[in-house]
Formats: sequence, structure tokens, C-alpha cells
Amino acid sequence: MWAKKESREKFSTGLAVFFATLGSALGLGNIWKFPYLTGENGGGAFLFVYVICILFVGIPVMVCEFYIGRKTRKNAVGAFEKLKAHPAWKIIGFMGILSAYLIMFFYSCVAGWVYLYMFKAVKGDFASITARSAEAEFGSAVIGPWSPLIWQLIVLVAVAVILIGGVKKGIERVTKTLLPVLFILILVCDIRALTLPGASQGVQFLFHVDFARLTPEVILTALGLAFFKLSLGMGTMITYGSYFTDDNNMIATPVKVAASDTMVSLLAGIAIFPTVFSFQMEPGAGPGLLFMTIPLVFSQIPLGNILLVAFFFLTSIAATTAMISLVEVPVAYFAEERGISRTGAVIFNCFLIMLIGILATLSAHKAALLGKIPVFGKTFFDLFDYTSSNILLPVGGLLIALFVGHVVRKEEFRDELSNHGTLSMDGLINFVYFLIRWVTPVLLALVFLNSIGVLNI
Ligand code: PHE
Repeated sequence: MWAKKESREKFSTGLAVFFATLGSALGLGNIWKFPYLTGENGGGAFLFVYVICILFVGIPVMVCEFYIGRKTRKNAVGAFEKLKAHPAWKIIGFMGILSAYLIMFFYSCVAGWVYLYMFKAVKGDFASITARSAEAEFGSAVIGPWSPLIWQLIVLVAVAVILIGGVKKGIERVTKTLLPVLFILILVCDIRALTLPGASQGVQFLFHVDFARLTPEVILTALGLAFFKLSLGMGTMITYGSYFTDDNNMIATPVKVAASDTMVSLLAGIAIFPTVFSFQMEPGAGPGLLFMTIPLVFSQIPLGNILLVAFFFLTSIAATTAMISLVEVPVAYFAEERGISRTGAVIFNCFLIMLIGILATLSAHKAALLGKIPVFGKTFFDLFDYTSSNILLPVGGLLIALFVGHVVRKEEFRDELSNHGTLSMDGLINFVYFLIRWVTPVLLALVFLNSIGVLNI
């Protein structure tokens, strides 16, 4: 048993832990989803609820996941066995695997768009782009059917190649080097966007809180986004926690990851909304928002096209590292619990994602082949997104918080979080434990009950 434990890979240093975790958190969620959901749901008020969700739900759930992962050094299903929990708790792991698939179906599609936009930028397709042509350009890129499918396939092949390289060689190396560069490039976008005529209206939209915009559904969407953003509620952070070093500070890491992640989302918002208002576009334009605005940000400035290529290149890196952490959930499960080789598990999962992902890609735009076919009142693309973000991840988070807050003994929790007594932060651990035990689950339950109309707050 020890030999098996020793052979499991770990991240090599604390910094690598931070970057790998951030690599999972940062992704299309910040650059694509956060801006478009903020735009659709009224700007500042949505942002306000989102930040509350990160603080009182996101960070505590992340601590719980790291606890489960590092304590057991197991995948999201095996971990509950190792903790000798009632077998029913394994549902968290299975739901997580299901969420990972649902997210990957549409995430790989959008990542394909990002790769495609990088390619188009290299060809110089955006040289004379205008606010009007940006929309048509987006439509012609994503309606397909062939081109977006081929790009989705390219994305999945890239993910498979990195994953077969293994935890250290693959994930660590890519995230450590490229994330800081992405950060700098978004800052460049911000500076450009803020100096556009009429930029202040965009900033006002992002930060002005109008509580009248808050409906139960908007609150649920903000909660779902918080889970999606921080890769929570589905075992990714359990799996990553299982590769953590023994001396990692498991409260400081979630706080740092959440803060950096939220900052990148805000910076992406600051790049996009001033542009939207400056070019008189529609903030609620939906999933195409990023693709219509960013080429405009860089149009008509010196070196604009090079910056545009760099932007989509780095976004594709961020999307790829996030996807690696998504696919890692089923891969770790199949490799560790089902005795399939790691390579076999990667290939099988990527193949499956491509196969069903076709449904997402062909329904992502209303003019696409399956764009008007409703399944439970939504397109496949929206259904995969809604079911995972707004239902499965928050339910997974609720179960995880209930498990750690009410099944795990407090002494064990304190022992693991203080790295077996080497960190003296009893007060902080008590506070986090209190949040996990009472505040987080109650908030989650309230948001759910409210959104299905049982409560009416
Ligand atoms: N957090 C990632 C993003 O924002 C997406 C993700 C969700 C990754 C869930 C892993 C697990 O893009």
C-alpha cells in the first residue's frame, strides 16, 4: 500500500501548487463566461452577488475539497472510501464525473472558437473589423458545421497530449510559465479599452449596483458562476488537493486563488464593457460577446494584430489548462479505480467528449444545425451549461460542505489544516470550520429554495 502511495505523483513546490490550482480556476470562465453573464444579468448587482458567493461559499468549499483530497491522496470517488465514509457519499464523486463531462461538452466547443480566432488573427482576418462586421464574423465562424467541429477536435487532441505527459511534466510546466503572461496581456487590453471614447459608461455598467436587477434566477446564476469559476463542486479540487505538498497552507491557497481569479475576471470585464459601450454594442449579447469585442479593442492601434494573436493564444492556454483539470477528474477515476491505463483513460475520455460535444457545438448559435432544437426548453449547449453550473456544481458543493462540516470530526479537520500542528492558526481554522458547518450550507440551501420558488426572498 505504501509503495502505491509513494508512486503517486505530487506537485513539486508550494508555488507549483498555487499555479496549477490557478491554472484550473482561470479559463474561459473569466474571459468568456464572466463578462457575458455579467452583461446579461445587469452588471454591478450581479457582480456584487458573485463576490458574496466567492467569499462565503466558494472559498469554504475549496478548503473542504483540498482537505478531502490531500488527506486521502485519492481521486474524487476513491477519497470517500479511504475516509471510511458511508458509501452514499461517493455520489459526490460520481456527480463530479458527470459534471466534468457536461462542462467539457460545451467548454471544448468554446475553446475551439478561441483557437479558431487565434488562427484568424494570424491570417489578419480582423484587419478592417467594425462593430457590425464583428457579429457577422462571429456567426460565420461558429455556425459551421465543419470548421467549429474540427477546431473542437484539435482542442481535445491538445488536451490529450498534455494529459498523457502526466501531472508534473504536463500540467505544472505549462501553467507556471504562461499564466503571468496572460495577466499582463489583459492589462494591456484594459488600458486600451479604458482610453476608448465613452469608456466610462462601461465601467459604470460593471460597478454600478442596481438591486432591482436581482431576481432569484440571477442569484442562482451568480452562485453557479462562482462554482464554475473556481472549479468547485465536482471533485477537480479534490483531485488536485490529492497532489498537494504536505506543507501547503490549505486556507491561504484558496484565498489567494480566489482573489487572483476574481481579479482576472474583473480585468476581463474592464477590457470588454468599455468596448461594448464605446462601439454601441449590446452588453447582453450572450456567448459571442468576447469574440465580438476583443478584435475591436485591438483594431486601429499600432501592433494591434500582434496583440490580438497573443490574446487569443494566451486565452487558449488558459482554456487548455482548465480543461486538463476537468478531464483529470474522470481520468484519475478510471485509472485508479477501474484499473485502466492512464493513456487509455485519457484517449477514451477525450473521444467520448468529442462525440457528445458535437451536440453542443452544433447548437451553440441559433443559426447552427441544431440551434433551434429544444431539449427541456433549452439548446444542447445551454442545457449542458445550465445543468452543470446551476444545478450539479452547487449541489455537489452543498454535499461537500455537509460532509466536511458534519461528518468529518473537527479534530481531524484541524489536524490536517494545521499540517499536523506545524501551522499555528487555530482561530482561523475555527472560523473556516464554522463557515463550512453553518454559513455555506445554509446559503446554498436558501439560494436553491429561492430559485425553485419555495421561498420568496
Ligand atoms: N474554472 C474553469 C474556468 O473558469 C472551468 C472549470 C470548471 C474547470 C470546473 C474545472 C472544473 O474556466
